[in-house]
Amino acid sequence: MSNRFILNEVAYHGPGAVKEIAAEAKGRGFSKAFVCSDPDLVKFGVTKKVLDVLENDGLSYEVYSNIKANPTIENVQAGVEAFKASGADYIIAVGGGSSMDTAKAVGIIIANPDFADVRSLEGVAPTANKSVPIFAVPTTAGTAAEVTINYVITDVEKNRKMVCVDPKDIPVVAFVDPDMMSSMPKGLTAATGMDALTHAIEGYITAGAWELSDMFHLKAIEIIARSLRDAVDNTPKGREDMALGQYIAGMGFSNVGLGIVHSMAHPLGALYDTPHGVANAIILPTVMEYNAPATGDKYKYIAQAMGVEDTESMSVEEYRKAAVDAVRKLSQDVGIPADLKEIVKEEDIPFLAQSAYDDACRPGNPRETSVEEITELYKKMI
Ligand SMILES: NC(=O)c1ccc[n+]([C@@H]2O[C@H](COP(=O)([O-])OP(=O)(O)OC[C@H]3O[C@@H](n4cnc5c(N)ncnc54)[C@H](O)[C@@H]3O)[C@@H](O)[C@H]2O)c1
Ligand SMILES: [Fe+2]
Repeated sequence: MSNRFILNEVAYHGPGAVKEIAAEAKGRGFSKAFVCSDPDLVKFGVTKKVLDVLENDGLSYEVYSNIKANPTIENVQAGVEAFKASGADYIIAVGGGSSMDTAKAVGIIIANPDFADVRSLEGVAPTANKSVPIFAVPTTAGTAAEVTINYVITDVEKNRKMVCVDPKDIPVVAFVDPDMMSSMPKGLTAATGMDALTHAIEGYITAGAWELSDMFHLKAIEIIARSLRDAVDNTPKGREDMALGQYIAGMGFSNVGLGIVHSMAHPLGALYDTPHGVANAIILPTVMEYNAPATGDKYKYIAQAMGVEDTESMSVEEYRKAAVDAVRKLSQDVGIPADLKEIVKEEDIPFLAQSAYDDACRPGNPRETSVEEITELYKKMI
């Protein structure tokens, strides 16, 4: 069996990367941008940093910002109508995972009108055509949606987050500019950074992992572990390193999958609107403990990448514990709550566990699991 690997056509990294948007748009002969962003990013002038680049070069655009965090089917449908009315020929997604994921769904539906029913895109959909070309500008250092083939849309009626996997949605160009992230408040920086760490750890131990993806994930763990605290303190170096670390994690997990940390986090986003990174960060150490028996010696390398010393002299139990402790410590240091007590209502656990079991990320988990075991994991955290 062969392994597939998909990445952006081009990616720009570093402060000022967004300035390259103008040359890329002109070089590709695009005439009008449909800019997908969210209302807060518009209000706080983050989207404007990209609009200024377009205006300075006389490039036309239209802004669509009817996008909420944990974006909904309705956000996508309204986006599709707005795109059709706009006369645009490419999309610029400016935002976190919510804006980028909405942009992907819009781009896919415009290019594949047979899939106008957003629900038909859940899982791996057999779309025929590539998305409308997308330029992606992340403003959080977390989801790496600018380099992934996934997008996540909430079905409000069914209280369900749909994970959609489609190689045809990958943004053609990513502009990973830490200056777009510097306005993130501490809590958001911490949560989105822990989402990136979760991608790196789940991607490293997922069932489909192989040597090429391991290389990205270990490097991502190392960069994130050493720089997330600094990013939360808003240092330029911390921001720059987190921008890169989360992207490298995305290069990996997009190609191999994740596990049940994400499966268990998605229903919390759907039912309680819990920020995605917060949910992952709380769940990660508990699921790491659960998964440990199915991970061979991988936790030794996770521990090393997290900065733990003397792992070579440790027993299997010791380095597995050290890896989990290091993750828990980082989470605590950046202010993530220790458990789900404030989030999960006990009576919802049967629904949450079934929903997590049905999630598209679950088959990637390194340890075979069941609704009953996922139920126990939720109970352990409340
Ligand atoms: N496509 C993927 O591969 C993938 C991977 C993981 C998660 N996701 C999805 O992405 C979504 C989460 O995305 P997210 O964590 O990036 O957050 P988000 O896009 O939902 O944004 C959260 C909030 O942060 C604000 N914000 C974003 N950037 C900011 C900045 N620079 N300054 C100030 N405020 C800023 C936004 O306005 C918003 O209110 C979830 O729906 C999740 O399921 C997708
Ligand atoms: Fe995630």
